[in-house]
Amino acid sequence: MNIFEELGEKNTVFKCKKFLDHRFLPDKLPHREEQIRSVAKYWIEALNSVTPPDITIYGKTGTGKTAVAKFTKKQLLQMAKDKNLNVRVEYVRCTDYTTEYQVIAHLCQQMGQNVPYRGWTKAEVIQSFRNLFKKNVFGKDLILIILLDEIDILLKNDGDGLLYTLTRTENVAIASISNYVDFKKFIKPRVKSSLRDREIVFPPYNAQQLVDILEERAALSFRDNVLNDDVIPLCAALAAKEEGDARYALDLLRTSGELADEKCSDIVFEDYVREAKDHIEHNKVTDIIMTLPSQQQKVLESLLYLTKRKEEITSGRLYEVYKEVSKGDSVSYRRIFDFINELEMLGLISTKTISRGRGRGRTNIIDLQCEISLLEDAMWSA
Ligand SMILES: Nc1ncnc2c1ncn2[C@@H]1O[C@H](COP(=O)(O)OP(=O)(O)O)[C@@H](O)[C@H]1O
Ligand SMILES: [Mg+2]
Repeated sequence: MNIFEELGEKNTVFKCKKFLDHRFLPDKLPHREEQIRSVAKYWIEALNSVTPPDITIYGKTGTGKTAVAKFTKKQLLQMAKDKNLNVRVEYVRCTDYTTEYQVIAHLCQQMGQNVPYRGWTKAEVIQSFRNLFKKNVFGKDLILIILLDEIDILLKNDGDGLLYTLTRTENVAIASISNYVDFKKFIKPRVKSSLRDREIVFPPYNAQQLVDILEERAALSFRDNVLNDDVIPLCAALAAKEEGDARYALDLLRTSGELADEKCSDIVFEDYVREAKDHIEHNKVTDIIMTLPSQQQKVLESLLYLTKRKEEITSGRLYEVYKEVSKGDSVSYRRIFDFINELEMLGLISTKTISRGRGRGRTNIIDLQCEISLLEDAMWSA
């Protein structure tokens, strides 16, 4: 028997797993009606051949920002097509295109202009982009809405030049999406004043809302009656604790189902959800650690050593141990501070500054922010 045929016959709790994938865009987005309406109220201008205002969408990870933007895009394009209007909505993920040049080159390519991803000057690329709006290319006025998802990454990486260019291109409306409320600190006043955007905030989902979201998706993806009654509520409750992250809730549900399959169980039990939680956390830490440069891994190793000995960890003490661990192949004391900062940003450690009292200065105390066993496992696999 063919191995794929054999595996295909295996029992599974899933009917169609793709509906649990992050990239799947559902037909309904429960508890986001208000946000969809807000976006649509601005974008409707495009259907009157007027450039819509710029908008900014904020909210924590997994609050449905990308899903709402894509959903509203789909609906707008349907209407524009019916009315035979030249409206376009281009989605750009700023983790894939991280500079002004790349974004604009990408937009040109999406719209049929052959602009190379390197080699031209920025001015040439911008000119090529602006040419798209000349009447003779499309025959009639083009209105272009540009969705800049995860815009904070681009701003941090390349400054606000892209926003400067786009706000100065007629017939372009920007929709920025950010996980951070304070991302505007990367935008200089000259750009801020021309952006004049409207803000839409996405609150975290609560447990009940997550239950509704999961139920819709579960009906599509799981076979009938395979989920124990408490599975969805537990996934929702755990995700509600993680700042109302729907992506995490979906991950929990999918992983629980995969565990049922692995165990050849016809039912997804509540215990599998808890197991799924450990699994996901473990993978997250492992992923982070595997991609750390080796010097940083040595810093973590030193932190682990000191934590297990229950020592108070100052940067000085950490450096001593780090030098031992790296055996001569070590970086300078100054560089260690950069490493500490980066590890803190990744959420693996926290630091606090304490004062040792008069004349004795201030000291940084470092604390591990993940479980020792989790870190140990992850370091082993890295
Ligand atoms: N209201 C909702 N209804 C159904 N699915 C949702 C809803 N909100 C989020 N999701 C799903 O949760 C996942 C994360 O949502 P996403 O839009 O990527 O969040 P964000 O962009 O805010 O980080 C996606 O798979 C998305 O389809
Ligand atoms: Mg998103």
